Amino acid sequence: MIKPHGSSVLNPLFVMDGGQRDILKKEAENLPSVVVNSAAAANAVMLGSGYFNPLSGYMNLEDALSVAEKMTTKDGLFWPVPVMNLLEDTSAIAGASRIALRDPNVEGNPVLAIQEVTAVEEMTIEQKKQMVQQIFGTDDPAHPGVATFMSHGNFVVSGPVQVLNFSYFETEFPETFRTAYQIRDEIKAAGWEIVVAFQTRNPMHRAHEELCRMAKEDVNADGILIHMLLGKLKGGDIPADVRDASIRKMVDVYFPPNTVLITGYGFDMLYAGPREAVLHAVFRQNCGCTHLIVGRDHAGCGSYYGPFDAQTIFDLQVPQGALEIEIYKADHTAWSKKLNKVVMMGKHPDHTKEDWVMLSGTKVREMLSNGESLPEEFSRPEVAEILGQYYRSLN
Ligand code: ADX
Repeated sequence: MIKPHGSSVLNPLFVMDGGQRDILKKEAENLPSVVVNSAAAANAVMLGSGYFNPLSGYMNLEDALSVAEKMTTKDGLFWPVPVMNLLEDTSAIAGASRIALRDPNVEGNPVLAIQEVTAVEEMTIEQKKQMVQQIFGTDDPAHPGVATFMSHGNFVVSGPVQVLNFSYFETEFPETFRTAYQIRDEIKAAGWEIVVAFQTRNPMHRAHEELCRMAKEDVNADGILIHMLLGKLKGGDIPADVRDASIRKMVDVYFPPNTVLITGYGFDMLYAGPREAVLHAVFRQNCGCTHLIVGRDHAGCGSYYGPFDAQTIFDLQVPQGALEIEIYKADHTAWSKKLNKVVMMGKHPDHTKEDWVMLSGTKVREMLSNGESLPEEFSRPEVAEILGQYYRSLN
């Protein structure tokens, strides 16, 4: 099986031993504690799950600046996005060497992880703005990822973590949430060697479905890992439970049995386009996938990124050999009126503008919020039904 990123075996930071976990939970109750922001909590979940292998915890300021600037830590590890615990106020943990991190997303703020504090550093507003520009390619406060990052505190609390649970992901999505080590086990049990990962934050429309099919065929894969984001999204995106139900239905009806694993991971969407695509590749390698599909405007929003910037970053900025996973670069995919099916546009130069129906998640959401039903070119009828029900429930 493909090796994890940066180490020969996966080293998830979740404390596997139940007895040890109980001891740490007890200890945590008496430690100075702090309610972390949602991004830091999601980072803990990703570290615990093994997706952020080989990191041992939250980055210090030097590493975060270096990663933002050149996608490498000061020790030379390739890593695309800073993984930080940013606090606004550190008075509750002043002087402490071990602290309990409380979960902002679960009622009562239970302890999510224990962190050893190796440094507390204050970043300057210039450093913060520079990082934002480097990660997101913009400092526009209207960009949802920029707005979230800028809303965080300026104290960088770094150090190793021991993760004690997987926040609300395990309880709210018991069928779908998986850690990287669980996915590795499932891939092994299925006997798959070549595995194509599909990142999504949308219910899968026809273009998504066909992309999976095409990629599987083109790389001769044994299986597809549909890996959906289960964390926080910007307003207007479709909630994870509705997406999950639509995807399950689509796979059930339209894919052969035992060719698809439907799974999800606990992370908040960054909308960082190219940088997030690289992060996606890192953690798909960590969960045992050999390929990641990157199509049009991957992890983007609005018009902040060029439609294929998330593909070119792999050619222009990811050093040769930094990652083992391969990128399946998908061309813009659309419904051909001539052929009556979804195809990659670049493969059909004979088509004129009028021959295409352009498919996008944004368009699907727009139509649904206007109460319009989704045509066959956009969505399978079974999926359209689930989405229609959800949108009707909003009125
Ligand atoms: S994402 O933010 O998670 O990337 P989304 O769920 O819409 O958004 O996309 C999942 C994957 O499908 C991404 O790789 C994206 O580039 C790709 N994709 C979505 N629609 C199209 C399309 N019409 N043509 C090509 N690729 C697409």
